[in-house]
Amino acid sequence: MSSSSSNNNAFYFLISFALLLQSAFGVTEPLFHSCSGENFTVHGPYEKNLNRLMGFLYHQTPYTGFGLGSTSFGAHYPDQPYGIALCRGDVSSSDCKTCVAEASSYIRKSCPNRKQATIWYDNCSLKYSDEKFFGQIDHGTKFYSWNTQNVTNPTYFNQKAKDLLTHLAHEASVTPKMYAARELKLEGSERETVYGMAQCTRDLSDGDCKTCLDGLIGDLPSCCDGKQGGRVVTGSCNIRYEIYPFVKA
Ligand SMILES: *[C@@H]1O[C@H](CO)[C@@H](O)[C@H](O)[C@H]1NC(C)=O
Ligand SMILES: *[C@@H]1O[C@H](CO)[C@@H](O)[C@H](O)[C@H]1NC(C)=O
Ligand SMILES: *[C@@H]1O[C@H](CO)[C@@H](O)[C@H](O)[C@H]1NC(C)=O
Repeated sequence: MSSSSSNNNAFYFLISFALLLQSAFGVTEPLFHSCSGENFTVHGPYEKNLNRLMGFLYHQTPYTGFGLGSTSFGAHYPDQPYGIALCRGDVSSSDCKTCVAEASSYIRKSCPNRKQATIWYDNCSLKYSDEKFFGQIDHGTKFYSWNTQNVTNPTYFNQKAKDLLTHLAHEASVTPKMYAARELKLEGSERETVYGMAQCTRDLSDGDCKTCLDGLIGDLPSCCDGKQGGRVVTGSCNIRYEIYPFVKA
């Protein structure tokens, strides 16, 4: 990204908007967050660039649901942060904006002075780093969650959930938005429907998106075997299935 007054304005708006959100609704807890890397100097060049980057992502992401950028302002490594923000494919532009604002506000408080951080909500995720990570599959932090309720026919259900997500992994990887959601009716004793979703950050190539998602599907037996719902989330891609609809059609 380039330096411009509109980005600065976006940042100031972000601060006031985030404060407004907190006072009105309280802070929304994320699903997960992680901090890593070295510490930066308070009020130093990295922090200044990071503030601008957060303003840029807040401003940019709601247009398409994906924002990617970097700020340098004369500084280079190690003072140049890179960042992306991604909203779930069905989330409206205004809900996306709200989520990115909350994510950047929460992560800056939760990872003070850290050069690298990632945060996930239902509606969005946000990541920044002093390493240029664009276009690379994030094999770092991974987050699992599952519904504690068991399905009645785990062997059948696991296979169907896997089939659905494998289909969605392919669909997401060949779709410009890199997002796919779909349902699959179950036969026989289950008499239910399984709902699934798969999404990649749009800096990945089609092939890497597929590789990333297939990797997560491979984790399902260890996290979510026989469970009524599950999700696996990384900085580059995420999958989720449930026995109820959880995205807008
Ligand atoms: C960063 O700072 C925190 C406390 O301010 C400290 O606990 C941590 O060890 C530091 N990390 C590095 C990598 O220097
Ligand atoms: C997340 O997005 C959905 C769909 O746009 C919306 O209905 C929901 O209220 C949002 N959740 C939060 C916490 O903003
Ligand atoms: C689900 O199944 C597991 C393993 O068979 C069992 O340990 C657990 O208690 C079950 N959970 C529920 C909510 O029934």
